[in-house]
Amino acid sequence: MKKNVEKTDPTETAEKTVDLSVEIAGVKLSNPLMTASGTCGYADEYADFLDMRELGAFVTKSITVKPRKGNEYQRVIETRAGMLNAIGLANVGLEAFLREKVPLLERLKLPVFVNVAGTTVDDYVAVAQALEAVPVVRGVELNISCPNVKEGGIQFGTDPRQVELVTGALRAVCRKNILIVKLSPNVTDITATARAAVEAGADALSMINTFTAMAIDVETRRPVLANRTGGLSGPAIRPIAVRMVHEVYTKVARHARVPIIGMGGIQYAHDALEFLLAGATGLAVGTSLFVNPACVVDIKNGIAQYLRRHGCASVREIVGTLKTD
Ligand SMILES: Cc1cc2nc3c(=O)[nH]c(=O)nc-3n(C[C@H](O)[C@H](O)[C@H](O)COP(=O)(O)O)c2cc1C
Repeated sequence: MKKNVEKTDPTETAEKTVDLSVEIAGVKLSNPLMTASGTCGYADEYADFLDMRELGAFVTKSITVKPRKGNEYQRVIETRAGMLNAIGLANVGLEAFLREKVPLLERLKLPVFVNVAGTTVDDYVAVAQALEAVPVVRGVELNISCPNVKEGGIQFGTDPRQVELVTGALRAVCRKNILIVKLSPNVTDITATARAAVEAGADALSMINTFTAMAIDVETRRPVLANRTGGLSGPAIRPIAVRMVHEVYTKVARHARVPIIGMGGIQYAHDALEFLLAGATGLAVGTSLFVNPACVVDIKNGIAQYLRRHGCASVREIVGTLKTD
């Protein structure tokens, strides 16, 4: 029997080279894709499933000054279009990170951004300062979705004044490393916190972190997560994340020439393209890595195909080109 020969569109198959490289505040990435903090550990956990060289950069899980066990179990559940986690920033702490994890990151041969968390400004500063002495680290991603214990537990990331305070303190210590501020979506107006971060000296913005959410076991009438609430991520949040990226890009970042790293439910090339058109220069993939770690390769190929189809030589050409008139 004859094999079914697929008809191909010659414009699709012509292997015109397209340039996927981007720059995040001076750090060159071979392509826009990176891991979303907390979803790929310190790079050792996914080594068997994904060739890390496919990525443009690697982002670590949050690091705090002291090791943290995190919240009690149950701390992760699947929801219909995503997942809910209340890991509670479990991590090995700064000292063990420098001793045990940095050598793993050095082997990646990729730019590394280290996500930093804390409950006081001094905590953040201590970690960021130590990272200045680590050559493989090219940037600090500030996780401001943490409570400030000195100010009654208000989340740094929900109050522009707090964002300014912590960003300004890190600006003073980040010299070698670029400073990326990761915005919380749990606010009424995300452009207000974005503006506060930019005015206090952020080199880049990453967005978004998870949405505070809850799941209930109706039989026991108890919250499913031991922490009661958790952060919602995955495809369910993507349209909200895209809207937020577009708002921040048009109202704050474009004018200030501050690049955005977009994330929230990216699973396919189509999703990544939405973020690029909305104004993101970099892209992070988190929850989808749990489903298919190799999705990054498909996303990259899909972006390249789109660029060829639209006659673009570089991915940079399409950033922020959403038509709204
Ligand atoms: C299991 C899990 C752990 C996470 N841990 C962190 C973390 O340590 N620090 C942080 O800033 N964000 C953390 N996040 C948030 C992600 O980096 C990302 O902002 C969010 O999940 C949206 O992207 P996604 O829908 O592609 O997962 C975590 C998300 C998940 C699902």
